[in-house]
Amino acid sequence: MLSSSLCTEASLRSPKFLRWLDLIRPAWDESGTGEPTYVHRKLWEWAFIAEALHERGVLREGSRGIGFGVGTEPLSALFASLGCEIVATDVAVEVAVANGWVSSGQHALSVETLNKFGICDRADFIRRTSLEVVDMNRIPSHLTGFDFAWSSCAFEHLGSIELGQSFILNQMRCLRPGGVAVHTTEFNVSSNDETMDVGQTVLFRRRDVDWIIDHLLARGHLVEIDYDPGESPADRHVDVPPWSGVHLKLAIDKYVATSLGLIVEKATSPARARFGLGARELLRYRLARDHPSTLGKVRALRDDFTRVSRLLTADGRRPSKLP
Ligand SMILES: C[S@@+](CC[C@H](N)C(=O)[O-])C[C@H]1O[C@@H](n2cnc3c(N)ncnc32)[C@H](O)[C@@H]1O
Repeated sequence: MLSSSLCTEASLRSPKFLRWLDLIRPAWDESGTGEPTYVHRKLWEWAFIAEALHERGVLREGSRGIGFGVGTEPLSALFASLGCEIVATDVAVEVAVANGWVSSGQHALSVETLNKFGICDRADFIRRTSLEVVDMNRIPSHLTGFDFAWSSCAFEHLGSIELGQSFILNQMRCLRPGGVAVHTTEFNVSSNDETMDVGQTVLFRRRDVDWIIDHLLARGHLVEIDYDPGESPADRHVDVPPWSGVHLKLAIDKYVATSLGLIVEKATSPARARFGLGARELLRYRLARDHPSTLGKVRALRDDFTRVSRLLTADGRRPSKLP
């Protein structure tokens, strides 16, 4: 199962990601190359969101989803084609014009444009999808009870790191207990110190993401994260203008950035939301985050012990306790 992670070539080329990219092929392969994927982080983000939601069972008939800052991405159409009811949202058109989202073709002007590649049957799409103007810095209170929420490449554009962090905490209110949020954003791979922290685009450092996760965990929500940046030649390549065909990491200002996918499962009960995670879950989360190799060893040891116990029991001898 996917955990929150950074864009890597291995995950982009994995069969489960390629399956989603094939379903939305008209949105990115208009010239019909037939390539399994381009080595581009945008495609990684869309496939990451779809796969993370699918694995958690929320992409099904009648499921309700809300998308933020959807622009012209194909995800609303993809999810509607799977039977989901979608509220797609984007900022008001005058704000989008002022910030260049309309001229760069990255703003949702009408509900029809969200299915312009015909990914969903037209009648099904119109029946299952609505478009609302929503400022991610001021989410209206009527948007509640959703099974899932998502955004791709949007919460780094809210004005500052702090506003992006607040958005993630606030959008949890849109979900029903046990609902799932998946959001992708800009991650600063080269610095956990200086960064772009205000302006039209910000770059989240590891410590900014850890801050978000700590606050989510304290509210009883579940998040696991892996900060592995990947090690293939494509993972190590830092793209600069004019862009090459390999675009997983890129230079922004004096930093190296890539995409981060964040997956949050909402607390399943009010008590859990009130008292946060148990000590055991917090320990597991911190081990996974800060000492991934130690957690791997503990898991391997536990699996070995289970295997040996089964063998000994089958042999009629009693297993001893794990030290
Ligand atoms: C880089 S585009 C990404 C569009 C689309 N999600 C995609 O993946 O192609 C950023 C999107 O965020 C939206 N946006 C920017 N500021 C916003 C805000 N304050 N509230 C809601 N949406 C916003 C823009 O209108 C645009 O649709």
